[in-house]
Amino acid sequence: MAQDQPISPLRAALLAQILGGLVAVGLIALLAPHLLTQPLNVALLQGLCAAFTSYKLESPPWWHPIHLGFMPLVVIANELNLAPYWYLGAFVALLIVYWRVPQSRVPLYLSSNQAASEVASLLPDHGGRVMDLGCGNGTFLRNLARLRPDCSFVGVEYAPLPWLWARLTCAGLGNCRIDFGDYWLHSLADFDLVYAFLSPAPMSNLWDKAATEMGPDAWLVSNSFEVPDEKALQVLQVTDRRMTHLYCYRPGRKITPGSR
Ligand SMILES: C[S@@+](CC[C@H](N)C(=O)[O-])C[C@H]1O[C@@H](n2cnc3c(N)ncnc32)[C@H](O)[C@@H]1O
Repeated sequence: MAQDQPISPLRAALLAQILGGLVAVGLIALLAPHLLTQPLNVALLQGLCAAFTSYKLESPPWWHPIHLGFMPLVVIANELNLAPYWYLGAFVALLIVYWRVPQSRVPLYLSSNQAASEVASLLPDHGGRVMDLGCGNGTFLRNLARLRPDCSFVGVEYAPLPWLWARLTCAGLGNCRIDFGDYWLHSLADFDLVYAFLSPAPMSNLWDKAATEMGPDAWLVSNSFEVPDEKALQVLQVTDRRMTHLYCYRPGRKITPGSR
């Protein structure tokens, strides 16, 4: 479920880092001023204070170790005396893979091959149209397109590098198209199955969009993340490493168990 945090994740992160720094420097100046000349010790204390602040701000738990390690790693990296273009290169690489994660709160991780086999079994016996919302590097769609040559597949992705990868690697498949763009701008009306492996953050809005646009017999299949306050009609358990759950809904049906 989405975590309700009073301020946005990026603001909370910035606040934790700044407050952590102020408290650490204040404490050291008061208690052990000679340590102020030892950057790594200052950074270690800053990391502790930032992680604590992040906890107090009710940030999701994965932020705390990030705060703990961030400033110490900056100090260590600084001592490596790397040329600035390495940092620029790393920044650009992360940017073109993770793109608008601060807004979407949906990073890149991939469905398993076994998940593709389960989804293939939900498709109509003779043909069907499938959309993958945020298709990443296209592996999931490629697997499906090979398993079900009688169906057609559309993937939408806006992170440049995964999109390019998906586009190139799906180019040889006549039944698979990869579009560059934002899936919120695509209609879901023409699809028999819409697949989403996203995060808890967009699920409520996705449900509203799917309920408005999808037909009564079309499936919305969400890998791992349930729609809040909606009961799935089927939950498929995939025997992959993550023991993935696929939550299957028919949002286009006006009367569904637990519909709002
Ligand atoms: C968790 S990955 C899933 C990749 C693939 N569907 C799979 O199951 O293997 C989610 C992807 O959605 C993309 N994404 C998130 N929000 C998006 C949006 N509004 N429009 C297009 N792509 C989006 C992200 O860039 C990321 O690559």
